Amino acid sequence: MKKEVLEKFTEVFGDAEGAKVYFAPGRVNLIGEHTDYNGGHVFPCALTIGTYGVARKREDKVLRFYSMNFEELGVLESSVEGLKPEKEADWTNYPKGVMWAFQEKGYSVDCGMDLLLFGNIPNGSGLSSSASVEVLTGHILRDFYGFEVSNQDLALIGQYSENKFNGVNCGIMDQFAIAMGKKDHAIFLDTADLSYQYAPVKLDGAKIVIGCTNKKRGLGDSKYNERRSECETALAELQKEVEIKSLGELTEEQFEEHKLAIQDEVRIRRAKHAVYENQRTIKAVEALNNNNIALFGKLMNESHVSLSKDYEVTGIELDTMVEAAWRQEGVIGSRMTGAGFGGCTVSIVEEDKVDNFISEVGREYEEKIGYAADFYVVDIGDGPVTF
Ligand code: GLA
Repeated sequence: MKKEVLEKFTEVFGDAEGAKVYFAPGRVNLIGEHTDYNGGHVFPCALTIGTYGVARKREDKVLRFYSMNFEELGVLESSVEGLKPEKEADWTNYPKGVMWAFQEKGYSVDCGMDLLLFGNIPNGSGLSSSASVEVLTGHILRDFYGFEVSNQDLALIGQYSENKFNGVNCGIMDQFAIAMGKKDHAIFLDTADLSYQYAPVKLDGAKIVIGCTNKKRGLGDSKYNERRSECETALAELQKEVEIKSLGELTEEQFEEHKLAIQDEVRIRRAKHAVYENQRTIKAVEALNNNNIALFGKLMNESHVSLSKDYEVTGIELDTMVEAAWRQEGVIGSRMTGAGFGGCTVSIVEEDKVDNFISEVGREYEEKIGYAADFYVVDIGDGPVTF
């Protein structure tokens, strides 16, 4: 890949002198969904697919950005001064947002750059291509300027840029999973205090299969923000009875005892998901550490049911794909992953059943939904690297 992106860089920007190649992964969350903005646990991992970047620092203030995934947009030019989000800037709002975030945090990012990107994460799939670009940009800036920032800082700066520059109110999971990725390990992260542990993902010959629904992006972002505020309101209602800082502090029993403090049936279900999903994530990691993959898979399935029925972030596409997965032989667990409302599913499938899984789930999905899904058998990889 290094050769191809360097060649393209030369073609687009004239020569590749002084340019370096960088990479940041995508991520998939194994369990712990919609818990990261509720002070709960998540269990994501970085992938070996992600975003390649070729970057060169410039002497002037000019930013020239080119993406091999959006070639029709050509070179998008702007300046490192007066950075602000603009509709016409399209995907470049992500790297620009990170440059802006560094500036906001007091780092002097004052030189232009030439940047070419190539992502082998399917666009808009829910495998966090945007967080991958954010962490990649932070990693490049650290290299350019010699900033003393840790990978965890890169995650926080990436999230800050997404929240404040790009207006998406996401939690910390995606950027953290990407910046802190470790080959063959998932990250058990407590989003209440950012403490974390790496857990080896030994699947006994089973594979992680991503199913991409190919549903066009719709109201995802606004629904995401709606769920966040439903949880915030539910928390405020519970706080009248119990002393908690977040829903993640409650056990299932405590929730059942106090849930009627929440004045609305829908909000009870939203909060229930946040509480139960957090506890499920803790149990799932324990199961994996005890090599009990069957239990891990069962908890994944329960996670999907809760996301579908109580949290209502699935929709016909994700439900169809997951329900088809559950019917296949050799499936240990299957659920939606990421924000929902389209995007991807994650399944754990016995290796010799993977081909059959892909063709059967793909067939059932296309029959019911009317267009095809895509499938990727993925491996767990490291965080950002410089080649
Ligand atoms: C998106 C957000 C994350 C997280 C998930 C849901 O991926 O970026 O912060 O909230 O949705 O678990």
